[in-house]
Amino acid sequence: MTKSFKTFLKHTAKDYHNQSVNPPVVRASTIIFKSMQDIRKTQNKAKKDPTGGHFDYGRQGTSTTHVLQKILTKMEECHHVFLTPTGFGSVFLAIFSIVRPGDEIFVVDPVYSPTRLLTQDFLKEFNIKTVFYNPHDLNTLEKNINKKTKLIFVENPGSNSFEFQDLGKIVSIAKKHKLITAIDNTWGTPYFLKPIKLGFDMSIVSATKYYSGHSDVMGGSLAVNKKVFKQVQLTDKVTGLRLGPDDAYLITRGLRTLDVRLDRHEENAKKIAGFLSKYKNIKLLYPYKKDSFNFKMWKKYYSGASGLMGLRIKSKNKNSVIKFVNSLTLFGYGYSWGGFESLALHQELREQGNRKYLNLAKDEHLVRLHIGLEDPKDLIEDLRKSLKHIK
Ligand SMILES: Cc1ncc(COP(=O)(O)O)c(C=O)c1O
Repeated sequence: MTKSFKTFLKHTAKDYHNQSVNPPVVRASTIIFKSMQDIRKTQNKAKKDPTGGHFDYGRQGTSTTHVLQKILTKMEECHHVFLTPTGFGSVFLAIFSIVRPGDEIFVVDPVYSPTRLLTQDFLKEFNIKTVFYNPHDLNTLEKNINKKTKLIFVENPGSNSFEFQDLGKIVSIAKKHKLITAIDNTWGTPYFLKPIKLGFDMSIVSATKYYSGHSDVMGGSLAVNKKVFKQVQLTDKVTGLRLGPDDAYLITRGLRTLDVRLDRHEENAKKIAGFLSKYKNIKLLYPYKKDSFNFKMWKKYYSGASGLMGLRIKSKNKNSVIKFVNSLTLFGYGYSWGGFESLALHQELREQGNRKYLNLAKDEHLVRLHIGLEDPKDLIEDLRKSLKHIK
């Protein structure tokens, strides 16, 4: 990310009219006009310029949501950004904008579990077939593409097991076979990876995570290119999946410091990874070991790494691994990561999807850490003491 973008995040959207550095929250169900002529004028503008923030009904948004859309459109370097009330709402919007009964879609196997539930089980009800692909076997993915295939849905890195895929190859396979591509880019955000520039048609970020950054708001963004804009616009209209202005305000406020926070999450996570790499019973699921395929793929496409990582821990005693997690004092236990604070979870990965390619041994256990903005020396000390419990 260029220096000028960091400056843009600090200076954009100042409101000189209201004399506030951050634009105020505009809450409206009725968008009020002075005359019928004014209503028609706005509606005509909306037709000519559908991304220009011309509203005649509260569900379409207000100036508060439009400010956030403009910032994210610039950050994603895309045609438009749709906002949804949760990150998962953006996953739903992306998929339902594209697939229709009779279609087939490809979804990466280590996908976020609600996305798995949607694609594996719910889509069946609409006669839509999902094929889960191995993130490191794109040749089989290409071989299985057929006339019914419509969409490739990527999440990078893989949820909880952190596989980094060859994103450029996925885009070129999709272009060759005229398929639409979507990626869940919540881990990297467009601060570290710009999927639309890379050739993806749609890019999802859960704004609940790093955008808001303070673990107290939910939201989602779906960035699109021109090719899919109209399809997504129609689905966005008929589902009514829109973000409210109070949440939009908080996310915009969070974005002011996105670069500062992500740079620090990365710095801290690298220090923790360096410390953990000395333990022979721990394999890191984080782009750290330079000779690994995952590291190469991360390096090829990303300009940085965020604070979420996995640990493969070898131990014949599962309870001792849980005791390690429970003994941490500076890591909270909770699922939604991306806030300023550190989190830890013991994971039952064998219950999530296929994941055969992980070759997880019986005596291997998975722990997920979100490395927050605390002093890394304190986090390392906390980990050092707690790791002693592993037998
Ligand atoms: C990769 C990924 N995508 C999407 C989501 C869903 O986001 P939200 O919690 O905002 O619905 C999550 C939440 O954990 C996630 O980790």
